[in-house]
Amino acid sequence: MPTPSHDHDHDHTHGDHDHGNGNGAGAAATGQEFWDSRYRESERIWSGRPNSVLVREAADLAPGRALDLGCGEGADAVWLAGRGWRVTGTDISPVALERAAGHAADAGMADRIAFERHDLGESFPAGEFDLVAACFLHSPGEMPRERILRTAAAAVAPGGVLLVAGHGGPAPGAENPHPDLYFPTPQEVLAGLELPEDGWEVLVCAEHERTGTEADRPGHGYDNTLKVRRRA
Ligand SMILES: C[S@@+](CC[C@H](N)C(=O)[O-])C[C@H]1O[C@@H](n2cnc3c(N)ncnc32)[C@H](O)[C@@H]1O
Repeated sequence: MPTPSHDHDHDHTHGDHDHGNGNGAGAAATGQEFWDSRYRESERIWSGRPNSVLVREAADLAPGRALDLGCGEGADAVWLAGRGWRVTGTDISPVALERAAGHAADAGMADRIAFERHDLGESFPAGEFDLVAACFLHSPGEMPRERILRTAAAAVAPGGVLLVAGHGGPAPGAENPHPDLYFPTPQEVLAGLELPEDGWEVLVCAEHERTGTEADRPGHGYDNTLKVRRRA
């Protein structure tokens, strides 16, 4: 699980809170309680910038309908809307969603983004999408990530793209900052999607060293990217 001090490009400018080992509200709280509490810790917990993996992988896609899973404070959704996408942003945390809606309004994008509250293990936005993005959809507790990502794949329209960005392993020699959370490799994420081979094209399935300030991301060495396209 990311710490707020890791960098997933919404990099984090604050301390050493831990999402992953049950500290604070994490252990007994529901997912919503955990994340609402996490978001209430400060006015903004992410950088406000879109994730660089999204910018890199979505910049050349023709805008259509996009779904942002675990949209947090909305920076990715706002960026997509600014590129001409109609966006549905969804998150478990009403606190995050209210903030995201405020950022969308500030950016003049309110009419291009619909925010919906879902615990994605329980319910999922309706419709099909030309891009479904799950950027750092990690959480302590019982979030069924693999199943959610399979549902995400099912929501991709013919010709559309599923983008999954996640944290990978710790830096060599570093202590794992989230020993209770398993961070799958991109190959494991791909296998977990159980995609029919003839129906999908794998565009990116790669682990890469995280860029950013080392001091901002203790222990995390790698992120990974999976980008698959449903054949039209
Ligand atoms: C690590 S944050 C990533 C936020 C954003 N995508 C980003 O890259 O900055 C994980 C997000 O997933 C949301 N989340 C966690 N569990 C969820 C669930 N079961 N359903 C929907 N969203 C969830 C959290 O509220 C949080 O905003």
